[in-house]
Amino acid sequence: MAKKLDPSYRPEFAVLNGEVVSFGEAKISIMAPGLTFAATVFEGMRAYWNPDHEQLYVLHLQDHLERLEFSMRVIELDNPPSTEDFTAQVMAGLRANKLREDCYIRVQAYVDNWGEMIAIGPVGSSVICRARPRADAFATGKHFAVSSWRRNADDASPPRIKATANYLNSRLAGLEAKRIGADGGIILNRDGTVSEGPGGCLFIVRDGCLITPPVTAGILESITRRTLLHLADDMDLVAVERDVGRTELYLAEECFYCGTGQEIVPILSVDGKTLGNGEPGPLTRHLQTAYDNIVRCKDEAYKDWLTPVYE
Ligand SMILES: Cc1ncc(COP(=O)(O)O)c(C=O)c1O
Repeated sequence: MAKKLDPSYRPEFAVLNGEVVSFGEAKISIMAPGLTFAATVFEGMRAYWNPDHEQLYVLHLQDHLERLEFSMRVIELDNPPSTEDFTAQVMAGLRANKLREDCYIRVQAYVDNWGEMIAIGPVGSSVICRARPRADAFATGKHFAVSSWRRNADDASPPRIKATANYLNSRLAGLEAKRIGADGGIILNRDGTVSEGPGGCLFIVRDGCLITPPVTAGILESITRRTLLHLADDMDLVAVERDVGRTELYLAEECFYCGTGQEIVPILSVDGKTLGNGEPGPLTRHLQTAYDNIVRCKDEAYKDWLTPVYE
């Protein structure tokens, strides 16, 4: 079982506008357009502790910061911090908090101060690094239900941008799932095909083949999804990106949810219909093991995906 964190836990330090400050000092204006008009984009990353190496490794740091750069460009933030600035800030946040365990890192960029809906500056930024153990669901799995909420479309509030605004849709789906007794919701797009979950992408397994909805299905272009497609290729598994119909979920031998925070969570049932034998499936377990070895730098072949934090 993963170690549980005390819900009152807060990291000692945060990075606000490039400066390490105490977590309590990291505040923004109540009239910041980042808050009042959701002019905020962000990234969520994980760092993994390897006790044998006495080292903390940030997973896919560069890819996350490149996605953040894309998000900042689309919402037209004026002169935001660069990828190099954010790299230094992530390292500063992890080191200031002396984190030597699995962590989660949230990097945010927003319009600060006071302004109208289309204000593009002044841009504020923050980096929060905190301990976050693996969720128990990695081992035990979850039960999902298809949501009645549809995914926001690319021509409305584009899911490809990692904007806080998009998480209203995820929140509604998550609240509904909780209300009906499911652990998570599966969101369909306007075409009625599977999009993703509130905070992660989906894979199903049919006839031994991995299938995941395409990047045009209303998903965030997930770095974990891309990683798993890469891994599947390296492992000579068949993996395809194609539309997935709702009832295909019920036919799947296996299904899992993936994302930086979720990692790889087996889905044991959808809409009360048991998948396979109701246990995490063998392909899911196989990918979980490979993933865990990679993220902790136990598999040298993928060490380029990791950035060590300590000297
Ligand atoms: C809506 C949504 N989809 C997918 C993902 C997975 O993306 P990634 O693997 O890049 O973390 C996330 C994770 O943050 C998410 O919030």
